Parts: sequence; structure tokens; C-alpha cells
Amino acid sequence: MGRVAIVTGGTRGIGRAICEALAANGLTVVANYAGNDEKARAFTDETGIPAYKWDVGDHEAAIEGCRQVEQDVGPIEVLVNNAGITRDGTLLKMSFEDWSEVLRINLGGCFNMAKACFPGMKERGWGRIVNIGSINGQAGQYGQVNYAAAKSGIHGFTKALAQEGARFGVTVNAIAPGYIDTEMVAAVPEAVLEKIVARVPVGRLGQAEEIARGVAFLVAEDAGFVTGSTLSINGGQHMY
Ligand code: CAA
Repeated sequence: MGRVAIVTGGTRGIGRAICEALAANGLTVVANYAGNDEKARAFTDETGIPAYKWDVGDHEAAIEGCRQVEQDVGPIEVLVNNAGITRDGTLLKMSFEDWSEVLRINLGGCFNMAKACFPGMKERGWGRIVNIGSINGQAGQYGQVNYAAAKSGIHGFTKALAQEGARFGVTVNAIAPGYIDTEMVAAVPEAVLEKIVARVPVGRLGQAEEIARGVAFLVAEDAGFVTGSTLSINGGQHMY
């Protein structure tokens, strides 16, 4: 049995591709999801990967959920914080709820899951944490003050926790995806999305598997010297 990996928001989109890539590499993978039971059941039927339901933004639920996973499957050695939502709108139209829900789930979820998993990793002297940020956390995006703030926060969170984990063999890295062909991006109005894709040098949306490939690299046994880094996978849309 390979090392146990948990992928939040793992039953759909980028998360599903990450689950499948890690399982193909011999890890024992568990997915977490928050809402869509039907999609989660289909995911487990198709992949054989178990799916556990809790809201990563709920601190107690995340702690208890990880405890259950560890009891059922074994100590979590790889954590992929992928779960995230959008509630796009210009600041003028954005409600406080749209702001706080995105912060609570996208950024708070990383904290809650790390609180659950990091102590065991430290204790055992080995761990891998990969946080899924975003190009929009690096560059900002019109209509996303909430999402850009949360994702930018993830990049800071990554660099801070990387410093805390380094001497215990726990690496902490981020991936900053560009626009990937998922339901989340499909929800962007067509005319807006066309303009965005026109600015991608590679000339297309990314595929979820192209993000999963980056995660597989960062969690590998021999990736122990890579920590605190951000891997941008965005078709050249934002370079720095
Ligand atoms: N820069 C400057 N001005 C802009 C602009 C931009 N990028 N985009 C729109 N505007 C202007 C418009 O031209 C318009 O001006 P006028 O009224 O003078 O014509 C004004 O702002 C209002 O624009 P909208 O009509 O678009 O406003 P809206 O309220 O209907 O919609 C919005 C706003 C919901 C933010 C919509 O523009 C939108 O969905 N944008 C896409 C946001 C986005 O990229 N989300 C990414 C989701 S996927 C994801 O987040 C994954 C990931 O990590 C990459």
C-alpha cells in the first residue's frame, strides 16, 4: 500500500485528475468533497477511490474528517488542498457573504486541513502539502477581489508553512493554475472567457491533467528539496 494522500474537492475537475494521477503513481488516495453526492458516487464507482464528505471551511468538520480517514485508511502523508469556490462579481456588487464564503472555504480550508494533517507529518518526519492557488491570486482579476485575495493568501500561507515544515521533512508548495477546462471556468461568461483565452500564449485552456502532473512532481519521494515554491501552469498567460 502506498502513502496515503488526501485531495480536497477531489471528486470533480482538477481534484479528480489529481486523485487519478496520484493513484496511478501507487499512492493510496482518498478524496474529500463538500456538496455533490451524485458526482461523488459516480467518481468512486469509476475510480475505486473513496470519497469522504465534509466542508473544508468548517474547522471541526475538517479535523474530525481527517481523523476518520486516518482511522479507516492510515496516516495522511500527502495533503492536496484543492477545494475552492468562486463567487465572482465586482466589489460594488459583491455581498459580504460572497467575500467571506470564498475566504472561509478557499483559504480557511487550507488552514483547517493543515491543522489536521501537519502534526502527524511532523511527528513521522515526512510529509507533502500542495496548495492549489491561482494565476488570479498572482495577477488579480477583474470581478474577483474575494477569490484573488484568498488565492494570494494561499501563496503566502504556502511560503510560511514551508519554513515551519522544512526541518521535519515536510515540504509545502503551491501550484498556480491558469484557466483550466473545468466547470468553474465554464461558468465564466463566454464573451469574457474568449477575451481571456486570446491572451494565453499557448492559445487554449489548460487540461486538469496538466495540473495533476505538477502535483505528482511535487509530492514525489525525490522532491524533498523543493519547498516553498509556486509552480505556475498557465500556458504562459502570466510570467514572473
Ligand atoms: N478590465 C477593465 N474593465 C473591465 C474588465 C476588465 N478585465 N472586465 C469588464 N470590464 C468592464 C466592462 O467593460 C464593463 O464596462 P462598461 O459598463 O463601461 O461597458 C464593466 O466593467 C462591467 O463589466 P461586466 O458587464 O462584465 O460586469 P458584470 O457585473 O456583468 O460582470 C463579472 C462582472 C461577473 C466579474 C464578469 O465580468 C466575469 O464573470 N468576469 C470573469 C471573472 C473571471 O475571470 N473569473 C474566473 C473564474 S475561474 C477561476 O477563478 C479559476 C482560476 O483560478 C483561473
